[in-house]
Amino acid sequence: MKYDFSQWRLIMKVIVTGGAGFIGSNFIFYMMKKHPDYEIICLDKLTYAGNLSTLKSVLDKPNFKFVKLDICDRDGVYKLFEEEKPDVVVNFAAESHVDRSIENPTIFLETNIIGTSVLMDACRKYGIKRFHQVSTDEVYGDLPLDRPDLFFHEDTPLHTSSPYSSSKASADLLVGAYGRTYNLPVTISRCSNNYGPYQFPEKLIPLMIQRALNNEKLPVYGDGENVRDWLYVEDHCKAIDLILEKGKAGEIYNIGGHNEMHNIDIVKLICDYLDKPYSLIEHVTDRKGHDRRYAIDPDKIHKELGWLPETMFKDGIKKTIQWYLDNKEWWENIISGDYQNYYKEMYGDRKVLDKD
Ligand code: NAD
Ligand code: DAU
Repeated sequence: MKYDFSQWRLIMKVIVTGGAGFIGSNFIFYMMKKHPDYEIICLDKLTYAGNLSTLKSVLDKPNFKFVKLDICDRDGVYKLFEEEKPDVVVNFAAESHVDRSIENPTIFLETNIIGTSVLMDACRKYGIKRFHQVSTDEVYGDLPLDRPDLFFHEDTPLHTSSPYSSSKASADLLVGAYGRTYNLPVTISRCSNNYGPYQFPEKLIPLMIQRALNNEKLPVYGDGENVRDWLYVEDHCKAIDLILEKGKAGEIYNIGGHNEMHNIDIVKLICDYLDKPYSLIEHVTDRKGHDRRYAIDPDKIHKELGWLPETMFKDGIKKTIQWYLDNKEWWENIISGDYQNYYKEMYGDRKVLDKD
């Protein structure tokens, strides 16, 4: 941490891992606007999900630096910490797509578990004011559709379904262990499904938007009745900033907007906004181990830190669809490459189901 003596301000240096991905990039934009005096370093391996062009508006800012690095690369991470001496690390870097984890779990274990431990070892070695782990509501498993009274609380037992969620839960346990054993000042947030600009078009909402725009079939898994609790990405970013400022080390905070929706209703809504027929919708073989319902209780972060979501779904989804309409180049670049093979491998063998 440095002082700006001309104005007596604290200058925080924040490493944001995974900042070339969906939520990490939105977090960088949010932080650079909200805290123009902070120094932000984005550490990202630039996997298929990371996109440097996403960060083009900040790349030449004097208080921003991009470092291409794998969080599993211990020597590289230590060198960066030695040079930069960050005050805060926010760890977004992860393999994040459930379907990919079902096909190939190994990389999920490496990045999500080993990578998190390497970052925390660097924090122990060089000192840190806060290590924040960006986790997910998926660590709690799922809830039945017929019990709308049930929600995930911070003390709900971990009960994971996919290799992805298991790797995130493992990382959460390690973060807790580093807090207790080494007194590392850690916090964890567990957020529900995010949507908004710059989401990779493998996830439900951007996949359906780009396919609908191209008049392609819209693959809904199983009966489409699965429920997710959707939050506009900027509200997630605000919550993490609050946790960094006011959250207590050792604590876990659930983040969610009480906005539960069935997948099929989201897909129909996208069709309505884009004026596309429902006949594009195709029910296909379900995801293996598919979680039925997620629902976050955000009471703790609301009561203790004063966080509330600000973007209503009806406004957020309009803004998001408009963003994909205005930024075709961003996603057309993505879907013109390896993505085509990904789509064939992931969807080619799925049977089309009879809707009735
Ligand atoms: P994303 O897949 O869009 O981005 C992940 C980023 O991490 C990419 O830029 C990628 O290049 C980078 N990365 C991957 N492996 C890396 C490695 N070994 N070293 C350095 N960088 C690496 O993911 P996202 O949707 O933005 O999710 C970010 C975080 O938030 C993840 O930890 C995820 O588990 C969590 N999360 C996501 C959601 C959601 O709805 N998307 C909800 C709750 C929590
Ligand atoms: O809940 C937080 C999690 O949300 C994050 O931890 C994950 O990183 C993020 O990917 C997301 O996981 P989901 O599996 O819920 O998101 P996804 O967009 O992959 O799927 C949302 C729902 O839509 C899910 O029930 C599966 C369904 N689906 C998804 C795709 C890609 C379809 O029906 N068809 C599809 O083609």
